Amino acid sequence: NTPESHILVIFGASGDLTKRKLIPAICKLHNGKRLPEKFAILGASRTEMTDEEFRESVTDFLPKDDDQCKCDEFLEKLYYQPLGTADADEYGKLKDRLEELKEKLDIPGNYIFYLSTPPKLYGVIPANLASVGLNQQEDGYTRLIVEKPFGNNLETAQKLNKELLNYFDEKQIYRIDHYLGKETVQNMLVARFSNGIFEPIWNRNFIERVEISSAESLGVEGRGGYYDQSGAMRDMVQNHLLQLVGMVGMEPPVVAEADAIRNETLKVFQSLRPLEPEEIRSNVIRGQYMESRIKNEQVKGYRGEKGVDPESRTETFLAMKFYIDNWRWAGVPFYLRTGKKLPTRVTEVVIKFRPTPHHLFQEDGVTAHVTNQLIIRIQPDEGILLKFGLKEPGAGFRVQPVNMDFHYSDLSDVELPTAYERLLLDCMMGDQTLYLRGDAVEAAWRFVQPILNAWEENPSLPIYGYPAGSWGPQEADDLIEGEDTWRYPCKN
Ligand code: BG6
Repeated sequence: NTPESHILVIFGASGDLTKRKLIPAICKLHNGKRLPEKFAILGASRTEMTDEEFRESVTDFLPKDDDQCKCDEFLEKLYYQPLGTADADEYGKLKDRLEELKEKLDIPGNYIFYLSTPPKLYGVIPANLASVGLNQQEDGYTRLIVEKPFGNNLETAQKLNKELLNYFDEKQIYRIDHYLGKETVQNMLVARFSNGIFEPIWNRNFIERVEISSAESLGVEGRGGYYDQSGAMRDMVQNHLLQLVGMVGMEPPVVAEADAIRNETLKVFQSLRPLEPEEIRSNVIRGQYMESRIKNEQVKGYRGEKGVDPESRTETFLAMKFYIDNWRWAGVPFYLRTGKKLPTRVTEVVIKFRPTPHHLFQEDGVTAHVTNQLIIRIQPDEGILLKFGLKEPGAGFRVQPVNMDFHYSDLSDVELPTAYERLLLDCMMGDQTLYLRGDAVEAAWRFVQPILNAWEENPSLPIYGYPAGSWGPQEADDLIEGEDTWRYPCKN
């Protein structure tokens, strides 16, 4: 089952994303024989390069341990067209080049246009493509892949949707969020909807709270200029983490088809209870990493990073608590936490179940019970862990917490495809399930926008410093009700 023959045009072909993510992913698809026989990539960007120079520029990024011959064969499918992307007058050149390739390689008029450019061009390129009739094909399909960020706030996201929809139909638009391409994220749908045991207890009657943490040990890694305009809310929460909330929170779709699934995610976003201005101070905790020593090494603070304003108030850490107002989740707190320069790299979803109604067993006169938790580890060490209580062997009835632990790495013959492999292949197959629909992107922005506004309008809302290499500000712990804390993946 391979996609139809087509040409993939990558705008921003000399950029980092193309080299680091797209080309390696497509090469993997090629080497695994998942691409059609007749296939070409046409790189386009302002840099003057020949086809040969373009091939050379990506050679070092091809998968190292794959068959060299296959990689060489892949390189031959790469072509390049210098193009002033912002300039409508140049698109005639692009159209001619595509016609020439189509003819030469005997490929039908199926085109995928990948926007891997600075976001300010996301609205311009579709208009320019349309000006030469490249938005619709008589003898094939035209699809448009739009990279993140999809807008910088609700207003710009709405504007961008309008601009795209002026020239392309929703069915042609593939808005990427690479978290949806992760195997473990998709597995949440399978775990929930292909097992009879989870769904009956997947609701407010049995679940006490849901926790989603996405920690990174790296800092902004040379992307200070971009990150300082963005921050954790825009960079991680509005997109990746809310998508995880959508997967955990959705109702069972009627069929496993793109729109059925995406309708359900949209409903989750529409049910997110907006935070009232007076709740923002207590329910959304932001932090920024400060200089510290980690393992005897001095680590720079965020404000000392290249490209970052020395007085920046951009958050590199965010923890928040919110509710989903619907029948399934009424009253169940959802906690999200993400940050840079934390002690480790891990993303996981923790479903914490309610305790038994009555604690039967005692240990040294104290009631003993365990907290049942289902932990979906998105990365690394992808897998699922269930924590429950068992009888400790021997006298009495002591309860001992134990783990039932599945690791994808145990399936040693299975190599997990990267997110970009999966997503690119889906687009080639015309499957939009793992791509964002315009209305859902707007609904996610609608939820986070009041928080961003409050931060902007009210400088007295605190941003806490935290030492690089720590789990963020103490205030994030105080978010969790009662005596409880977050699950710390390094510790337990
Ligand atoms: C990107 C963000 O979208 O996702 C980065 O811009 C972040 O700042 C990255 O590091 C995280 O992705 P992953 O796949 O490494 O969890």
